[in-house]
Amino acid sequence: MKKVHLLTYGCQMNQLDSELVLGALASEDYKPTESVQDADLVLLNTCSVREHAEDKVYSALGTLKRLKRKRPELVIGVVGCMAQMDREAILSKAPHVDLVLGPGQIDHLPAFVRQVLGGENGRRKVLATEQKEVRFARNIRARPDPNQAFVEVIRGCDVHCTFCVVPMTRGPEYSRRPEDVLAEVQALADDGVREVTLLGQTVDHYGKDFRNGYGLGELLRDVASIDGIVRVRFITSHPRYLDDRILAAISDTPKVCPYLHMPLQSGSDAVLARMKRKYDMARYRDRVARARETIPGVSIASDFIVGFPGETAEDFEASVRAILEFRFSNSFIFKYSPRPGTAAVEFPDDVPPEEKKRRNQVLLAVTNRVREEEHRSMLGSLVDVLVEGISKRDPAKYMGRTRTNHIVCFDGQPELVGQEVSVKLASATTLTLFGERTKAEATDIVRG
Ligand code: SAH
Ligand code: F3S
Repeated sequence: MKKVHLLTYGCQMNQLDSELVLGALASEDYKPTESVQDADLVLLNTCSVREHAEDKVYSALGTLKRLKRKRPELVIGVVGCMAQMDREAILSKAPHVDLVLGPGQIDHLPAFVRQVLGGENGRRKVLATEQKEVRFARNIRARPDPNQAFVEVIRGCDVHCTFCVVPMTRGPEYSRRPEDVLAEVQALADDGVREVTLLGQTVDHYGKDFRNGYGLGELLRDVASIDGIVRVRFITSHPRYLDDRILAAISDTPKVCPYLHMPLQSGSDAVLARMKRKYDMARYRDRVARARETIPGVSIASDFIVGFPGETAEDFEASVRAILEFRFSNSFIFKYSPRPGTAAVEFPDDVPPEEKKRRNQVLLAVTNRVREEEHRSMLGSLVDVLVEGISKRDPAKYMGRTRTNHIVCFDGQPELVGQEVSVKLASATTLTLFGERTKAEATDIVRG
């Protein structure tokens, strides 16, 4: 039995890829280990979306260099988006790396590890970054969470926002056939999964390449009809593609959670145009209004980039106003980071770092204010919580999420993990809601 230590950086797509990596290696008798010291194979599943993410990987590789000096037999691999972007540069900056593997090559990982081990002098460098269209093999039994699973429905992206590397690292957009998605969800449900999250960079563009009218709305309905699945989520929405059919499907299908992650990126039309986001504030406002009208109680989350080239003080104020206008239940705020190979790298990166930092802090403070107000307005209400496990912040409590993706902590028991329970909300901090399970349900559990 050999051991693999896997570190995952970046988005949910990477979390899913890490699961696929462990699944592929399980068939070669590799078992995951938390300790890098025990490992025969160390893999970094990487992210290139901002420079900071890459810096973290190079710093981890620095630490691994010392380990490899002590244990030359250790195999070190870099997989994922950075592997795709940097290729040979990784091998020259970090010559102790044995394997560089793009996201399109993950299912061949075991064969590549064998190649590394079978080279002359017992070693060979392997670099594999060809982008293939299809890779969706999944070892259903090698999952990190028994109750929840990600399911990739679209691979890649064709939008080419001027700041973004994803179309380069993940390749062109490609929708997976509905029958394959449904078969995978069925297999997951048969294995006990209760909640699935459908993943795609522009998930509402799902199926456009089929040209037969089958889109995300239809897929949501079909996924929700699978027995055993109690909740269906989907991320990430793009304001240009989120259409009324999708909104209607969310609204008419009780298992589909009333939650949209629909990044706005900036509240200024001039900045949105330079980002080539393909929508303006009027379109975004229309989508939010339509979503709130069609799906009562819908919760909407966003991403923002601050300090994009040419972002003036007025442009930035427009982003502040947008958070207040749309009352996002959460926003992820990023400082603009120029990325090699993107169109925006040609624009002067003219917002100074201290100003980017300041704008980031201001947007975060506004986001938190809106959230605290929302949390306060929820106190006293009953919410359905799908129990995920013990709370990281308070190990005496259990945590789970509402259908609107709010995090709730409460007094629980191990048998509740994977169940939906009803919680009455009593207090809140900026990030978390706290409550108690309703008496009737608590008694039911005691009675068994
Ligand atoms: N299609 C995905 C985008 C993935 S990248 C989505 O819409 O969520 C996730 C987020 O990272 C983006 O929404 C954007 O806010 C941020 N981001 C992407 N490239 C960036 C860059 N060069 N600098 C700063 N933030 C960036
Ligand atoms: Fe990136 Fe824009 Fe696609 S943010 S993933 S290019 S929608």
